[in-house]
Amino acid sequence: MSEPKKLFIKTYGCQMNVYDSERMAEALGGQGYTEVASPEEADMILLNTCHIREKAAEKVYSELGRLRHLKAAKPDLKFGVAGCVAQAEGREIMLRQPMVDLVVGPQSYHRLPEMEARVRSGERALDTEMPEEDKFEKLKHRPKAKRGPTAFLTVQEGCDKFCAFCVVPYTRGAEVSRPVDRVLREARDLVERGVREITLLGQNVNAYHSEGPDGRDWGLARLVRALAEIDDLKRIRFTTSHPNDMEDDLIAAHGDCEKLMPYLHLPVQSGSDRILKRMNRSHTRDSYMALIERIRAARPDIAISGDFIVGFPEETDADFRDTMALVEQVNYAACFSFKYSSRPGTPAADRGGQVPAEVASARLIELQALLGRQQQDFMRAMVGREVGVLFEKPGRHAGQMVGKSDHLHAVHVTSEGLQPGDLRRVRITEAGTNSLAGVLL
Ligand code: 5AD
Ligand code: SF4
Repeated sequence: MSEPKKLFIKTYGCQMNVYDSERMAEALGGQGYTEVASPEEADMILLNTCHIREKAAEKVYSELGRLRHLKAAKPDLKFGVAGCVAQAEGREIMLRQPMVDLVVGPQSYHRLPEMEARVRSGERALDTEMPEEDKFEKLKHRPKAKRGPTAFLTVQEGCDKFCAFCVVPYTRGAEVSRPVDRVLREARDLVERGVREITLLGQNVNAYHSEGPDGRDWGLARLVRALAEIDDLKRIRFTTSHPNDMEDDLIAAHGDCEKLMPYLHLPVQSGSDRILKRMNRSHTRDSYMALIERIRAARPDIAISGDFIVGFPEETDADFRDTMALVEQVNYAACFSFKYSSRPGTPAADRGGQVPAEVASARLIELQALLGRQQQDFMRAMVGREVGVLFEKPGRHAGQMVGKSDHLHAVHVTSEGLQPGDLRRVRITEAGTNSLAGVLL
């Protein structure tokens, strides 16, 4: 038997990339690779990249520059670029950077084993096609090794919404849902291996639809309800949702499906109808607010989070005030907010009316201050309350364990005998900046 080869993967960007990196590691496991924690040890280094905001390609080139010296010490070391930068700029990367042996787009990961073999024989390999097949099914199944208590499971990929600022429809392609039976099988397998919480992933996860075992078209709600029937699966989450795909049954599930956690990431991007229209978001401020009301009627304590972009082309001060007012009205539990970043190839990139960088920066600071205050208020309001906590790992102090609450807050508890995977009721006693502390009930 030859020595196992070593694989180092650096993952950038979203949770879907985290899931993809796991799947790639497993696919290359079949080629004799084991994953290592540092690039110095590796025989192959894969950068799983993100293209969503600025300087994505530059980041890849500078990371390659930093790693280049490793090749001098180990001439057989291979470099690969995966993910959305690979999809968008793969050919150019190959031309500009001769040290890159392999470029693979997000829809072609199932071809990695074959590409690796070519690379080992001295070729360079590029695959950025978007074949219509379930790459995850073609990838090797997850080995039966035990897992931690939480896992991601990609159920849907790609996006047909074409927001004017966003590269996803181009890098991840059209909306595709994975078949129900495969998702259920993968979930059962994860649970057998110790997983207690699954987060369903998709760029537009609530647009999920696929034929169920009853021959009917299943949406995300139906899928969630079927997953909830897996006994040892205790919690279900999903992300990211689009306001326009928030079907009635999914809203209802937040009220009546106990395993579905009270947390919903529902990006709105802007509070100004004028800007929403220019963003091609296809919802208005009022339709978003009405939706939030219906969701809160179904589950009053739900934590709502979102994404915002400030400084989108032509955004005026008045538009920005509308965004601030919407934030006040919604009262978010947590949010991500970004300065608009022009992405080549997207409709907004070629428009006039670009907002000066200092104006966008000032707006971002103001928005983040408000969102930060709301997040703190939401956390402080947890003090004194009883919440469920799924414990994940030991904390920094002796006897301390850290887990996530139903509302996705990190919670620290000091108590002997707690194990990762334990789901316990906890009374929150303290709120810090980024986490809560509590005692077991
Ligand atoms: N500029 C700034 N933010 C962006 N996002 C997507 N594209 C851009 C862009 N060009 C943000 C959106 C999205 C999140 C994942 O990233 O808010 O919801
Ligand atoms: Fe991008 Fe809009 Fe699709 Fe979200 S809904 S992935 S922001 S195009």
